[in-house]
Amino acid sequence: MTPVITLDGPGGSGKGTIARLLAERLGWHLLDSGALYRLTALAARRAGVDLDDARAVAEVARNLPVRFEPAKGGGTRILLDGEEVGAELRTEACGADASRVAALPEVREALLERQRAFRRPPGLVADGRDMGTVVFPDAPLKVYLTASLEERARRRYNQLKEQGVSANIHSLLQELADRDERDAKREVAPLRPAEDAVVLDSTELGIDEVLQRILDLARERNLA
Ligand code: DC
Repeated sequence: MTPVITLDGPGGSGKGTIARLLAERLGWHLLDSGALYRLTALAARRAGVDLDDARAVAEVARNLPVRFEPAKGGGTRILLDGEEVGAELRTEACGADASRVAALPEVREALLERQRAFRRPPGLVADGRDMGTVVFPDAPLKVYLTASLEERARRRYNQLKEQGVSANIHSLLQELADRDERDAKREVAPLRPAEDAVVLDSTELGIDEVLQRILDLARERNLA
């Protein structure tokens, strides 16, 4: 069976960056499952679908005309209907919409097989909220990455500033708190560590330290 390392946790915990670096280091595939929820929300909005209409949104999720391509400078280009949508996907508005559609069981079901199809040799790093609990319950290494709300808001603020996007740290903090609450309280696949997950708090740790700890765990388990 192709090995999977799952990386779950709340928004702003650094999962996305760590998952990308980990996949690069191991030479494994990468699944950014949050992007699938964001794409579903964006495609539904564009099609004029009501985000509360579970069956209609699930239909959008099942038929997403999406392509993931390696970008020239590293990373991934995400194309929806042939149009690059990476920047639009990362906006807070799209994140909030994604969190709404992600609470619909029909949508989660519609995206399940698509996510599992990313598991191809030599291995997969899967980034999300329910990678260890629902999508890849048999993963040989599950990491739950977290950080304090204040630190996550600060990181998100710096990230936006680097991208030249103006942001307000107080509203970012509130948005993250709202999203965490919705993701953790929903009935299907709520945000929580799998019972066999290693919980890493990155509040006081840099990216390199977190990456090194996960690589050590992967080596201990003979995955790398
Ligand atoms: O990781 P992200 O910020 O791109 O995720 C966007 C939203 O999608 C997040 O608020 C919750 C949802 N999500 C989810 O429910 N399950 C996943 N595996 C990944 C994301």
